[in-house]
This record gives sequence, structure tokens and C-alpha cells, in this order.
Amino acid sequence: MKESALQIAHRSYAPKMPSALRGSVCLKEGERTESVADQAAIKELFPNTYGLPVVEMVADDCCCERKREQCCCESEKEQCQCESRQAARNVGVILSGGQAPGGHNVISGLYDGLKRMNKDSKLYGFLGGPSGLIEGKYKELTGEIIDQYRNTGGFDIIGSGRTKLEETWQFDKGIEVCKQLGITAIVIIGGDDSNTNACVLAEYYLQKQCGIQVIGCPKTIDGDLKNKMIETSFGFDTACKVYSELIGNIQRDANSAKKYWHFIRLMGRSASHIALECALQTQPNICIVSEEVEAKQMTLGEIVEEIAQVVAQRAAKGLNFGTVLVPEGLIEFIPAMRALIQELNDLLADGKEFDVNGLSAGAKQLYESLPEAIAKQLTMDRDPHGNVQVSLIETEKLLIEMVGKRLAEMKAAGQYTGKFATQHHFFGYEGRCAVPSNFDADYCYSLGQTASELIAGGKTGYMATVRNLTRPAEEWIAGGVPITMMMNMERRNGKMKPVIQKALVDMKGKPYQYLVAHREEWALSTDTYIFPGPIQYYGPKEVCDQPTCTLKLEHA
Ligand code: FBP
Repeated sequence: MKESALQIAHRSYAPKMPSALRGSVCLKEGERTESVADQAAIKELFPNTYGLPVVEMVADDCCCERKREQCCCESEKEQCQCESRQAARNVGVILSGGQAPGGHNVISGLYDGLKRMNKDSKLYGFLGGPSGLIEGKYKELTGEIIDQYRNTGGFDIIGSGRTKLEETWQFDKGIEVCKQLGITAIVIIGGDDSNTNACVLAEYYLQKQCGIQVIGCPKTIDGDLKNKMIETSFGFDTACKVYSELIGNIQRDANSAKKYWHFIRLMGRSASHIALECALQTQPNICIVSEEVEAKQMTLGEIVEEIAQVVAQRAAKGLNFGTVLVPEGLIEFIPAMRALIQELNDLLADGKEFDVNGLSAGAKQLYESLPEAIAKQLTMDRDPHGNVQVSLIETEKLLIEMVGKRLAEMKAAGQYTGKFATQHHFFGYEGRCAVPSNFDADYCYSLGQTASELIAGGKTGYMATVRNLTRPAEEWIAGGVPITMMMNMERRNGKMKPVIQKALVDMKGKPYQYLVAHREEWALSTDTYIFPGPIQYYGPKEVCDQPTCTLKLEHA
């Protein structure tokens, strides 16, 4: 591998960690848990992993810190898990779904944690995502390999994939492969769908009593894997900082040339967390929030009208330029479009051939009224989890076309006199493999270490968590949360399935409320743009170690 200067220098960056993870650790159990919804159905589907307690890692002051002979009475020695915790074990790791900055640090934290407990432990990486487990494609991750990837972006250490683990033959194949390698624990690093897989696998392996633990780690740039116990998914911080740098640069260009309206679509699948966070970081003229569109039951026409009005008001002030942030999932939140997509999902389930006549009359009419390119994009293959691939739907172009038409009408009616020259952008893949920000490098390394502790503590069906993230890393709280706690039943591929509940933008939440309080000012102003510049890795804390605005507002 030919390494850049930053890569070489950054290899020696020592991620900051919660102080509880620095020495020997013991797991403190909290109260038993319930799933967020559909308790009876989830309990029935996960009889072995349902209701487990939340756990927190605390510094162990029993046998490890002091000498056993000096501190342990006989009963303490019996309860003491130090020996089993320090046993050598073989662990497998899988990177699942879309890339997110920091994945390599989860793996290096996991590796270091396992080796710290016992130098004879081994870490195997399954290649190309979950399919690596069932196809028995793996590589042993040695210290030399791990060192090359510390603090780097990407998932290329072992690759990723979106294969869904849901059939018993896949689980059984996994047992076979693990037995061959002596693997007794698997760590799945993924988003909501992949962690749902982790939970299904954990449950099955417990039922089979095959002695394989399964632990998840919360990954996704989308930021929609969060709840009471998970403050943010890793990768969100870096990706938003990369996009915000680019948006800031575009705003400076727009403010210099004063001739273009830039429509910028941002990745994030259904949720608008990325668009909202980027808006907080850059203060654009318009930021659409899909969740608001849904809450207000807005039509596409109404969204277009709102944008056109801002364009006209700015034009009246001589400002024929601006920025519009568009969340990539917008189309799914416009009620009529959502109904159409739902019908299309059911029609296309199980790889069926698309036939427009299979749609209801209303859906068919809407489908046929869409620009040809958008209609075609809506019928493209779903991902293996049954999701429409919103990253392929060019909503920003649809909006440009419709706003352009509306402004022409307004011009004809004497309501608008400006110029509407546009540029369109889509930022997504640019941010997914960026060198992790210090926040993500630290957070991910801590997650990896936490996963190793959960394994040592004999846990399965848990997701590694690190909380208190707006405080200095030493004060972060590491722990584990039962995955069933985050689950509910949802319709996927035409059937009801247990899945981790996605966190959409909370309309009562402080980040959205901040946008609402400021957006009128941002819409018409010339001097409210913020230009964040590139991520900094070395330098003062306030430049290098800041979490997202979303986290800061949510946990102020
Ligand atoms: P995950 O949910 O797997 O983390 O992926 C996130 C994401 O980057 C979405 O924002 C985007 O819509 C999608 O992946 C794109 O998928 P693909 O990489 O398959 O094109």
C-alpha cells in the first residue's frame, strides 16, 4: 500500500478512551429491558435474548488491580470472572453495509482489547461483509495488518457487503466456519439492518447452544441508529464534517460569483440527520427536512412553492444565488410518493418483474406524472433489506426542474424578475471513507475495546455502546445494550419483520428547533453562511475535538 503523509503520521495517533477501559474492567448489570414497541411479538421471536439487562463497564477493583491472595475472600474468588475473562479466544469480525469513517478503528480497538486480555487470542476478519461468514472467506488480522489501518478511513481492511443473514442454512454454515476456526464470538459492525441480523444470529446460536457469542457495533453515516442508549452512530461525525466543508466552499463560491443557486442532495437514506447537521454547521439559505414534510403532509408542489418564494424574495434583493440542502430520502416522505413507493416495494418484492398496471389507480397516475428519469429510478432494484435505493434518485434535479417551471409562471405573472441559473450536487460517497475525525477515531476505538469486554464478559445479543460523548473522552461511559431493546415490528418486502427502530429527526428535538428558529434569517441573508473548512487532526481542541452540533444541542 502506498501511504500518504497523513496516513503515515496518523498511524501513531493514540485514540482517547473512557478511563474505565484503561485498566481491568468489570461489567455492572442494570435493570432488565423491554423492546421499544411490539413487546409481545419481539419476546416471542427472541425468547433467549429478550429482556436482558443493560450493562456498564466500570474499573475493576477486585482481583486484577490488587493481588488475588490479598484481596479476595473465598466467596469473591468463586464469583471472580478474571480467569475466564482472560482466556485466549478466537473472534471473527464483519463489516456490514455502507462504509463509515472509523470502521478500521473499531477493528483495531477490538484487536487491542482481545490481545490485552490474552496475547494468544486471534482476530479473523470475514471478507466482503456477512457473506464472508457463510462462504468461509476470511483472513487472520495480525498486528502488522492492523497497524497499517489504524486511524484510516474506509472498510478496505476486509471489505463490506449487504448480504442479509436471515435463513437458517446461513446461520448453520456460520457455525461450521466458526468451528473450523475455533471462533467463539462474532462482532458485526453495521447499521440498523445489520445489527438486526446480529440479534437474529445471537438468538439462533443461543437456541442451538453452539457457544458462539454475537456482538454488534453501531455504524452508519446516516445517524439514524440512535436512541436512549446510543447517542450517535459512528461515521456520522466525519461524514457531516466532510459534507459541511464542501457546502461551505460552495457557499463561498456562490457568495463570490453571485450567479448560481446550488441544490445539494445529501446522503442519509430516510432520515434527514445529515442534512440537518450540515445546515447547523453551514447555515444555508434553505434546508428541507423530510420529517417536517411528512408531519405537515406537504405535497411536492408545496415544497417547490416554498423554495420558489425564497428564490423570488432573494431576487427582489438582487441576490440571484443561494444554497438548498435536500435530504436524499425526501421523496419517501411526501405522503403520496410514500404510498407509491410502498406499492412499488410490494410489487417488486422477491425480484418480480415491474408492471405499471399492478399499481392502484392513484399510484399509477402519480407514477406516470413523474419525469421519466425519476419514475425509472423509483423502480430500480431494492437493496437486500427491501429498501428503495434513495441514493440513486436524483431529487435535486427534480426540484430544480419544478422550481424552474414555477418561477417561469411567476415571471409571467409579474411576481418574479430574477435569474435562476442552477448547479446540482450529490454528496454521499465523498464522505463515507474519509479519514475519521478525532471524534470518530476515539469513539470507534472505544467501541472496539468495549466489544472485546462484552465478549470477555460472556455477553451475546448486545450492542457495544459508548455514551456521554459531549464530555472529554476520559469521561465517556462504555457499556452494552441488548439489541432486542431497540426492536419493533415493521413491514419489509411485503412482510412484518422484527427490526431495530430507526431514529428519524425529532421535531421536538433541539437540533430541528434550532433550524426553525434561524431559517428565516438564513433564507434572506448574505452574511450568515458559515465556512467550516476541512477536518483538522492536529491542533487546538476547539478545532480538532468537537462533536457534531446535533450531539452538542441534544446533550447540552
Ligand atoms: P448503511 O445504512 O449501511 O450505513 O449505509 C448508508 C448509506 O450510505 C446511505 O446513506 C445510502 O443511501 C446508502 O448507504 C447507499 O448504499 P450503497 O453503498 O449500496 O450505494
